[in-house]
Amino acid sequence: MKRAVLLLVGLGAGAAVHAQDGSYLDPSLAPEQRVELLVRQMTLREKVGQMNQYLGLERQRTDKPQVAAQMEAELKEGVVGSTLFTLTAEEGNRIQRMVESSRLKIPVFHAMDSIHGHACYYGTTVFPTAITMASSFDLALVEQAHQVTAMEMRATGYHWAFWPYMSVARDARWGRVGETFGEDPLVVARMAAACVKGLQGENGTGPNQVLACAKAFLGDGQSVNGLNFAPMDLSERTLREVVYPPAKACIDAGCRTIMAAHNEINGTPCHSHKGLLTDLLRGEWGFEGYVVSDWMDIERLNWIHKVTPDQKTSVEAAVNAGVDVHMQGIDFIEPLEELVREGRVSEERIDRAVRAILLDKFRMGLFDENRYVDEEAARAALATPSSRALALEMARKAPVLLKNENQILPLSKALKSVLVAGPLADSNALVGDWVYAQPPENIITVLDGVKALVGNRMEVRHARCGELMEITDEDIARTVDMARNADAIIMVIGDNDSRVNEQWEDDSRRINTSGGENRARSDINLVGRQLEMLQQVHATGKPVVVVLINGRPLSVEWVADHVEGILEAWQPGMMGGQAVAEILFGEVNPSGKLPMTFPRSAGHILNYYSHRPSFYYKNYIFGKTEPLWWFGHGLSYTTFAYSDLSVPKQVAAGQPVPVRVTVKNTGNRAGDEVVLLYVNDVISSVTTPVKLLKDWARIRLEPGQQQVVEFALTPSDLALLDKDFNSVVEPGAFEVMTGALKAEFVLEGNPQ
Ligand code: BGC
Repeated sequence: MKRAVLLLVGLGAGAAVHAQDGSYLDPSLAPEQRVELLVRQMTLREKVGQMNQYLGLERQRTDKPQVAAQMEAELKEGVVGSTLFTLTAEEGNRIQRMVESSRLKIPVFHAMDSIHGHACYYGTTVFPTAITMASSFDLALVEQAHQVTAMEMRATGYHWAFWPYMSVARDARWGRVGETFGEDPLVVARMAAACVKGLQGENGTGPNQVLACAKAFLGDGQSVNGLNFAPMDLSERTLREVVYPPAKACIDAGCRTIMAAHNEINGTPCHSHKGLLTDLLRGEWGFEGYVVSDWMDIERLNWIHKVTPDQKTSVEAAVNAGVDVHMQGIDFIEPLEELVREGRVSEERIDRAVRAILLDKFRMGLFDENRYVDEEAARAALATPSSRALALEMARKAPVLLKNENQILPLSKALKSVLVAGPLADSNALVGDWVYAQPPENIITVLDGVKALVGNRMEVRHARCGELMEITDEDIARTVDMARNADAIIMVIGDNDSRVNEQWEDDSRRINTSGGENRARSDINLVGRQLEMLQQVHATGKPVVVVLINGRPLSVEWVADHVEGILEAWQPGMMGGQAVAEILFGEVNPSGKLPMTFPRSAGHILNYYSHRPSFYYKNYIFGKTEPLWWFGHGLSYTTFAYSDLSVPKQVAAGQPVPVRVTVKNTGNRAGDEVVLLYVNDVISSVTTPVKLLKDWARIRLEPGQQQVVEFALTPSDLALLDKDFNSVVEPGAFEVMTGALKAEFVLEGNPQ
């Protein structure tokens, strides 16, 4: 204990007296050693304080001044571990100064929902949302976008991103679909892992890195009726085949933290589910980080799930199940202290959580040179030209051309006039959910994009329109009138998940949003009078194309049947309007593919491509049964011909299976193609999906150019879970599918 300064500090009546030595402040020691030096001199209260999180001080000051006062006192006492949603770098620094006056000076983590950019913070780079990113099938770009997010977070004093979402979305009624990477476990797994790598790099503690928090553990993309928070009633097979793989991929990618799901799963709330949070996560999968509760979900064990009689028992259940951090508020450290003193929660359990949290704080240099950020420098780091260029690149690669009859798209630049119409033409809806106030000039709407691209060569007119759900007779009449005088009409319609105009969590204020968190719907139609407006514009006989802005698949059967050109832009982020305009006028060739199937109506849910063979054996008696567009659908302005799909006829068990296919650009424009590779186990002991995605490649081809795309299926790509949930590979015939091609091979071996 050389160089240690020994101080004796009284902690008040009845509290233990803890010697304080500053040895852990020595930056030359290894982080692990510093953790041990610190933990052994922490009081129980200081330890459980590390496990507690508060909503940022400024937000509390407005809404809950008494809580703010308590939080400030606890910060100065050194018993707050982390915050979420501090507002500014300046506030973050102020909080760090408060804890620096505490006995042990343990810095605070600042956490944020930085889910497609650090976009809850003013003036940052707002990337396309997850469902949009997924449509690009471009993992490298996703990773790079998250490097930018991490850099912007650290520059502004944040350390912990509540991201990625690892839930597989199967129900379009759920408001949070736009936050997900869609319906396919492999796409979700790879995309989420790319986010983890981008945010964390090595282990999340480098100067431009943050800790990732994969959520929600587990399975909240499949809550009953599509309602957020509702129970998940999932078979063991669905859990193992669909829900576990993306979560496991995040852990394998080194994801340092996990957020428990709001929901119950098969009768046990995730927040008190020891089987999930400890046995599976730590025991089977070797997770060594920490688990944070979701917002007030420890409280909800009693409030909503009714599995505990009071908050103290809820804390006991959650911590003993495996929750390490309480999000958020005043009702945690006292009950947890008491529980430890009463022997209901062990001190070793507390120490495990505290050690993991402190290790990251040391590794990040928060006790040392990285405790504060430079507020001036922070401003300069945000939404730089190179970050915007990356957001633009993704916005160009993601939109999905759903329909292009008579090659109505791209629109000619020789038109004399174009009308940009619909309630989302000049709207912030294209940034999606989890974006708070941004400088208006940072967001390029579709109208902005069209004006900037072709405004100097044709008349670009805008049909003003009320908000999404407030379209009036006058709005419709005005739009139709203007449409009659336009050479072409771009109708921008869909959903609005954006919180840009919102101050803070208050669902009642989100009157004109129709998607996003807690915005589930019992139908998935175009809300309000959008369809009526479109139908009347279409009736003018003028050329009409539709741009959809939405986070969830919408039932747009009439649009699909009547409108010649449909571009699914999803929520393409701050540069989205530019990218959409470039696609509409042919400067960029669309290349996205759907990561989620479009049902014809909410009544058709569940619809997903990787269904069992009997799924569509019978039809609905009225109307069509199959979806509007399947997962993987997406057109281009050029054409791609697939040929020569080859696999060996016989493959020895345990050997990789080489697959080759030739893809040729047979049109007259350069274009990107996402080549998707599916497998079907033809006859199996348990039912298996009719096709399941196993790999993909995104390639670029000039006109006339062709490329042989090669894949190698691994033995585990051919495995199924047998009736006892053992992973086995069954010999026999397998089909390989890509484009419209199919080839078969036989896996040799003795049938089991
Ligand atoms: C959401 C989480 C989010 C948390 C903190 C919750 O309501 O479900 O996804 O990370 O709030 O903002």
